[in-house]
Amino acid sequence: MPNTSLVDLDRQFLIHPVSNFRQHEQRGAAVLAAAHGVYLRDDAGRELLDAFSGLWCVNTGYGHESIVQAANEQMRRLPYATGYFGYSSEPAIRLAARLVELAPASLRHVYFTLGGSDAVDSALRYISYYYNALGQERRTQFISLQRGYHGSSSVGAGLTALPVFHRHFNLPQANQHYLPSPYAYRSPLGDDPQALIAASVAALRAKVAELGAERVAAFFCEPIQGSGGVIVPPRGWLKAMADTCRELGILFVVDEVITGFGRTGPLFACEAEGVQPDMMTLAKGLTAGYAPMGALMMSDRIYQAIADGAGPELAVGHGQTYSGHPVSAAIGLEVLRLYHEGGLLANGVARAPQFEQGLRDLLAHPLVGDARSRGLLGALELVADKHSKRQFAAELKLHERVARAAYDQQLVFRAFGDNILGFAPALCYTADEFTLLFARLRATLDQVLAQPEVRQALS
Ligand SMILES: Cc1ncc(COP(=O)(O)O)c(C=O)c1O
Repeated sequence: MPNTSLVDLDRQFLIHPVSNFRQHEQRGAAVLAAAHGVYLRDDAGRELLDAFSGLWCVNTGYGHESIVQAANEQMRRLPYATGYFGYSSEPAIRLAARLVELAPASLRHVYFTLGGSDAVDSALRYISYYYNALGQERRTQFISLQRGYHGSSSVGAGLTALPVFHRHFNLPQANQHYLPSPYAYRSPLGDDPQALIAASVAALRAKVAELGAERVAAFFCEPIQGSGGVIVPPRGWLKAMADTCRELGILFVVDEVITGFGRTGPLFACEAEGVQPDMMTLAKGLTAGYAPMGALMMSDRIYQAIADGAGPELAVGHGQTYSGHPVSAAIGLEVLRLYHEGGLLANGVARAPQFEQGLRDLLAHPLVGDARSRGLLGALELVADKHSKRQFAAELKLHERVARAAYDQQLVFRAFGDNILGFAPALCYTADEFTLLFARLRATLDQVLAQPEVRQALS
């Protein structure tokens, strides 16, 4: 039985992110009460296997005593320290230095935020400052990818190319432009990796030419598009886009909010292709969700131009009360230690083939049209007709049926509106936990398939 009083209070007072308010009022929330390892427990005592790391963030799994300890100690010693007017704190300083040590060599400076959206927003503001400081005021145009997600700040949500983030929000802005995403499963180019890469490079060149190279500020992308449906581009795609940006003289900004911190194997997805971005946005796995924190990393060239642009006296007017929060930073330092010395990155890499195989095995299921993954980031795409890749009719609300069945089977993952199922298991998953994940996932799909309306919709 749900805890009705909490559910009622939630209905009345709590606005949920990216939700339909009316549907939420009607259905109410499933209230989570506790978690340990890779399991969540709701307030009715039901245990759920988390195959989504919360919201692609709890990469370490839940209940790490050493993280709790680090937070506890920092809270006792110094729960808050401003970074304004010349102050700083040891955890923020050490975390910035450690990130510079671990990130691609091009990134030399760190600005801390509270999450990913404000990391993207900070990138946009600093980029404007940078070009104005250089006297290139005409560089105001931004390019990102269709199906891209870059958070929901008032400008960043326009780089996001998902319709619900635009509708009634007066977005995108006139200076925000999109390229087709490298979506192998639905591209007319099929899954020829070189053709997909060449098409993206050509689209970038064409867009820059159309806008005028001297007007374009930057290209933003995720190494693997997460919220847009886990679109996994071919290996080499990221490097080709970065090289093209360099050649065209525009900034290359990589949004590693999901892909960072071991999600795709290496600490950062950029590493796998030797990409040296001008800027990188981070969040989620930085603190593994134990406390809010994001980061914007930038090259020395950008930093120096901004510093010179301000001159000897003026402040660069960008800041937040909680930038470099010492408790979040202390957590971040311990989480980074766990990725390396705690063996989490190595375990994620070791378990990735089992994850990939488990998804691939489900291609034989009548509902599954595509399976894709890199590292421990993956998706299944459900289709009504495997041959034509026809999607299910929206009226069937298949994703809601899947989400309900998953809850019945005690499994948590993300069922997107276009019937793409997203998975991001924690890097601490064991082989047995993966076996359980796939048993529950298969049972979920079977439960949905057993529904007569779903069977009828299949061709
Ligand atoms: C690639 C990417 N960028 C930015 C964000 C926004 O981060 P946040 O939700 O922490 O504001 C997200 C969140 O999912 C993301 O996936």
